[in-house]
Amino acid sequence: MRKQIAAANWKMNLTLQQAETLMDELFATPLELSENQEAVFGVPFPYLISIKNKLAGKKNVYVAAQNCYDKKSGAYTGEVSAEMLNSIGTDYVIIGHSERREYFNESHAMLAAKVNICIENGLKPIFCCGEPLAIREAGTESSFVEMQLKESLFHLSAEQLTGFVIAYEPIWAIGTGKTASNEQAQEMHAHIRKVLSDQYGVVVADSISILYGGSVKANNAADIFSQPDVDGGLVGGASLLAADFTAIINSLK
Ligand code: PGA
Repeated sequence: MRKQIAAANWKMNLTLQQAETLMDELFATPLELSENQEAVFGVPFPYLISIKNKLAGKKNVYVAAQNCYDKKSGAYTGEVSAEMLNSIGTDYVIIGHSERREYFNESHAMLAAKVNICIENGLKPIFCCGEPLAIREAGTESSFVEMQLKESLFHLSAEQLTGFVIAYEPIWAIGTGKTASNEQAQEMHAHIRKVLSDQYGVVVADSISILYGGSVKANNAADIFSQPDVDGGLVGGASLLAADFTAIINSLK
């Protein structure tokens, strides 16, 4: 049974003090995560160690970095390597978020290299894909997302892709309060799984957790997560509020 995951993406928000308060509020009552459910906290680099410490001894909870560099080490002032992230106990790395593709010009090839270096260093990528509004309006979102997967993931082996995590985040739904409908989310998630199945076989495709992202809130999470090919969510704004993110975690299948 593939994992059902509620992943927080704090983006560039919160001071350390605010972050620690948020975690204390979240864990004031123990989270109820079953065997196949996980909560993941995608936090800014400077907070990874502190938040990891807050999670110590708790079950099925993990930390994620929001990015890493695609080179091993060396003269890359200001960058953070996968090896460094692994050395501080990071579990996951969000790779290819649309904000990084757009504002930092991350190419398909660069994202493929980032995925590789994460895997080499024992980090689990959460690979993001999703179309902009113009592509959705043109009706070509399926082939657009398929191209994103092919360009950055299809060099991987079946073994490397087994148990992988992908987040489908339509750009027009991120931070806009406008979620994809249940039908739109299910349709794209099923398409992603079909594309993976055609390339890697049904067993690998069925092992991959496909998260939905884009204005997931406490009041719509259960509906979206109930779709058969939606295995949880990657959550921005609503992950900054303890009560809301708790409700989202409790909405996992
Ligand atoms: P949002 O962000 O939940 O605020 O729309 C989601 C994301 O960008 O991962």
